[in-house]
Amino acid sequence: MRILSIETSCDETSIAIAEFNGPKRRPRVTILSHIVSSQVKLHAKYGGVVPNLARREHEKNLVPILLQALHESNVIKSKNGKLPTTNYPSTGSGPRAESRDKPQTILEREPELQKQFKEKIISLPIPAIDAIAVTYGPGLAPALWVGVNFARALAILWDKPLIPVNHMEGHLFSSVLEQTGKIPNSKFQIQEVTLPMIALLVSGGHTELVLMKKFGTYELIGETLDDAAGEAFDKVARILGLGYPGGPVLAAEAAKRQAIHLRQARPSGRRGYGGHASNKRHVKLPRPMMNSKDFSFSFSGLKTAVLYLTRDLGKSKTKRLTSMIAREFQDAVVDVLVSKTIRAAKQFGAKTVAIGGGVSANAELQTRMGQALEKELPGVPLLVPMPSLTGDNALMIALAAYATGKKKTPDKVGAEANLKLAGF
Ligand code: KG4
Ligand code: ZN
Repeated sequence: MRILSIETSCDETSIAIAEFNGPKRRPRVTILSHIVSSQVKLHAKYGGVVPNLARREHEKNLVPILLQALHESNVIKSKNGKLPTTNYPSTGSGPRAESRDKPQTILEREPELQKQFKEKIISLPIPAIDAIAVTYGPGLAPALWVGVNFARALAILWDKPLIPVNHMEGHLFSSVLEQTGKIPNSKFQIQEVTLPMIALLVSGGHTELVLMKKFGTYELIGETLDDAAGEAFDKVARILGLGYPGGPVLAAEAAKRQAIHLRQARPSGRRGYGGHASNKRHVKLPRPMMNSKDFSFSFSGLKTAVLYLTRDLGKSKTKRLTSMIAREFQDAVVDVLVSKTIRAAKQFGAKTVAIGGGVSANAELQTRMGQALEKELPGVPLLVPMPSLTGDNALMIALAAYATGKKKTPDKVGAEANLKLAGF
């Protein structure tokens, strides 16, 4: 089965074409094409993702990315190095007239995409794929709609089933894909997972602890009450003047203080930082809700603590202090994430622990989670997505689509910005 998948929930425009062989639970996966186009530079000047700007970029980029994916995957045979075209009229009479007109009506609210669709997609031969998958939530509504409408239009044009996919389910599946061969002849497979599994899904929009007792069933056992972990990284990086996106830049800044890792001996009269007997500077930030009995998270207070600390320091915030704050902030987030995940794994008798989402790229989180598991639950493996799959990507959407196999008629699919994990 070949699936073409589309992901536009935030600021990456991504399309994958993958071939699946074998059982739903453990297929072998051949990646025929996987393109991720990031808009991060565009949003950097605003210090965060601007939904309407993201929507416009998706509109501009989807057709060129699709053409590249169709070409390199060979699901449409090229002629003289180019995708061939048929001579169908773009509207009106002739074979399959309705399936050419309707998709264009679907794209009426995306005029740029509609124009490119008419000029470049309608005349293509039907590609050798079996289904189209698309992220329909959660995410930014304007961004989601572009991908959803594009997928609906393609499904009707090519008469293929449409599989709507939950973005968080995609992140979960990205952690269970393993590489079984060496580059360049890489082979991939969904690995055998011993259940129950606890998955920590940490991204720019979400922080969730999910329990999977049976394949395809999810229980949300905890989530953030305010900011997501990735959002906190982004906001704190901004407060510290480190740039955007915050996760990678803050982690790089924190790495400068890897060895120091100072702990606070609070000098009297000073709040959270200051001198010490050894005359070294210290920074101490809270670990919000680390010891609460539930599995909820809260990162907004931590961000505010950094804000006050930075404000109090004023001009005396040296480069060294900046990296110390970055370090302490990252430690605080990692402490909380690791401690709650391990506690959940113990309480629910997890046999596997997985992490996924943009923040799972964080090296400190990966290392500390691995160490904690080894110490507290020896033998329980930690699954981490391969580096190219931690952030948003369309391949994870194809992986989840194959597993769920939930086909829907295109008219019944719409974007759902606040979609919850439901299982299948
Ligand atoms: O999953 P993702 O790509 O998009 C969403 O679905 O939100 O996650 C993006 C988030 C951003 O907040 C980004 O700052 C964070 O993941 N991130 C990181 C790292 N790389 C990306 N956070 C911490 N450390 C990193 N190395
Ligand atoms: Zn994501």
